[in-house]
Amino acid sequence: MTALVAAAIAEAPGRSPRLKVSARHIVKRFGGTTAADDISLDIRDGEFMTLLGESGCGKTTLMRIIAGLESVDSGSVLIDGKDVTALPPRQRNLGMVFQQYSLFPHMTVAENVAYGLRVKRKAESEVRTVVDRMLDLVRLPDLRDRRPAQLSGGQQQRIALARALATSPELLMLDEPLGALDLKLRRQLQVELKRIHRETGTTFLFVTHDQDEALFLSDRVAVMRSGRIEQLDDPMRIYHRPANEFVADFVGDVTLLRCEYDAAQGGVVLEGGHFLPLPLDGARGAITLVVRPEHVSLLPAASGAHGVQCRIEDCAHQGGSTLYLVRLANGESLKARSLGAPSAELPPGGAALASLAGCRVAFPR
Ligand SMILES: Nc1ncnc2c1ncn2[C@@H]1O[C@H](COP(=O)(O)OP(=O)(O)OP(=O)(O)O)[C@@H](O)[C@H]1O
Ligand SMILES: [Mg+2]
Repeated sequence: MTALVAAAIAEAPGRSPRLKVSARHIVKRFGGTTAADDISLDIRDGEFMTLLGESGCGKTTLMRIIAGLESVDSGSVLIDGKDVTALPPRQRNLGMVFQQYSLFPHMTVAENVAYGLRVKRKAESEVRTVVDRMLDLVRLPDLRDRRPAQLSGGQQQRIALARALATSPELLMLDEPLGALDLKLRRQLQVELKRIHRETGTTFLFVTHDQDEALFLSDRVAVMRSGRIEQLDDPMRIYHRPANEFVADFVGDVTLLRCEYDAAQGGVVLEGGHFLPLPLDGARGAITLVVRPEHVSLLPAASGAHGVQCRIEDCAHQGGSTLYLVRLANGESLKARSLGAPSAELPPGGAALASLAGCRVAFPR
């Protein structure tokens, strides 16, 4: 079979995609801390995969283990199906970009980008071609003769990206590369990163504790907690079909409402006894209802609509939408988001009715 035919079969619909990296049953302890607690993770060829989790959950450790910068207590790492667990970093052909700008200060931008190619003893003509291509890719061709100290933070991170991509790594690992940038620049660079990922076809492993960034950038997100992966899924499912309360709570703005599900009547009974019709597949008994601001709609108290009585405590206009903070009659507080400017019929301090008709996810308690 020719390589071309083999590749076509590998790509055929219905076949599982090729794996770039497989981490298998990784365990890593630092004294009493388990930074990786039996982690298994497959990264597909060309995928943008993100590790998302709070500080200390083990994101950097897992990345360093894949890079070969950290040893494992047990488990193995495969790249392109080959076991590399015992190989040093330089034999894994991976690229890395860190949160702190890590350019060589005494080298120019072009020399920084050329660095990995020169280490690999590439011909000068090839080095020049690749450096030009990389500076075009990150859209900074005019800065080639500057030194890192003469660049802004965002420019430095683009150059770090160009340097990491110059050697055509099997996998590019980015550990909070936008963490030190202000919000506007961060948003800009997120769009750039997506484009660069698309244009190069390189497999990306990205680390962040910013959930919006993870959902925006990734093909798949691994939500981590205490050295474990709680859910590995595409962003839509992570947000709309969280696997458990931890993921629901960690990703997006959420209130977890404890209530009872009355399957016979098809609705929830809130603490305090108020019944709200709400179809929830398979729910029964004591549940925790996942309530996001966009699931809640507020109606004027006089409308007579089906809803729980509540009081509007505050409202904030946020660009294209309004976020209301409301307190239910039973004392629980909720957020509600609606498009557009604040409604004159829903003034802060006033009474209203809250409908939870948009909720779809609940967990048994
Ligand atoms: N070299 C080390 N020696 C001892 N403990 C370590 C070491 N490296 C990491 N740890 C511990 O392992 C756990 C995971 O650390 P890790 O750096 O992987 O977290 P992280 O998810 O990257 O966090 P952050 O978002 O803050 O970067 C933490 O409890 C940390 O203190
Ligand atoms: Mg880290």
